[in-house]
Amino acid sequence: MTDDVDQILAVMEVAFDPIYGEAWNRRQVEDALKFGNCHYSLVNAQGREPVDGESAAGFFLSRTGYEEEELLLIAVDPHYRSKGLARSLLETLRIGARSRGAKRLLLEMRRGNPAESLYRNVGFHAIGERREYYRTPGGQRLDAITFACDMG
Ligand SMILES: CC(C)(COP(=O)(O)OP(=O)(O)OC[C@H]1O[C@@H](n2cnc3c(N)ncnc32)[C@H](O)[C@@H]1OP(=O)(O)O)[C@@H](O)C(=O)NCCC(=O)NCCS
Repeated sequence: MTDDVDQILAVMEVAFDPIYGEAWNRRQVEDALKFGNCHYSLVNAQGREPVDGESAAGFFLSRTGYEEEELLLIAVDPHYRSKGLARSLLETLRIGARSRGAKRLLLEMRRGNPAESLYRNVGFHAIGERREYYRTPGGQRLDAITFACDMG
């Protein structure tokens, strides 16, 4: 698992814009995987599971709850964007979550994140908002929007 945490952190470092303070540190990732009922998946640049020490180009991290699964993080290295890697990670999430008993997927996103198009394209819709829920390292307060995707 340590290798996979290294892979997750390597993508995290290049994928998230530091102005929003959204990237997690090693401790947060390790604790989520050890104690948080969390799951993850990695993809290589071709959208497949990395093998034989191949670098990851993207990952997701999710948390399983009762009949639902929350997407906590999804990220793709900027060098490999717009190739469908996030879309394929979300498909892996959907399959895994269903096998864990989820009837719907949830996620929370800062208002204005371009990832909104991705989420809407794969079937998520907004179900609520939390005003000024996030605070950036620079002190700006940003709304959170909650999205859900029913899996039938
Ligand atoms: C969001 C993110 C994961 C998308 O990764 P990606 O591999 O480039 O996404 P995909 O290629 O699978 O895109 C699938 C669809 O989502 C939409 N999309 C993805 N990124 C988009 C962007 N920046 N702007 C607009 N639409 C976008 C497009 O409609 C795209 O469909 P198309 O290729 O048919 O046009 C990536 O931009 C990223 O890592 N962002 C920084 C981290 C982040 O903010 N994560 C979300 C919050 S945890």
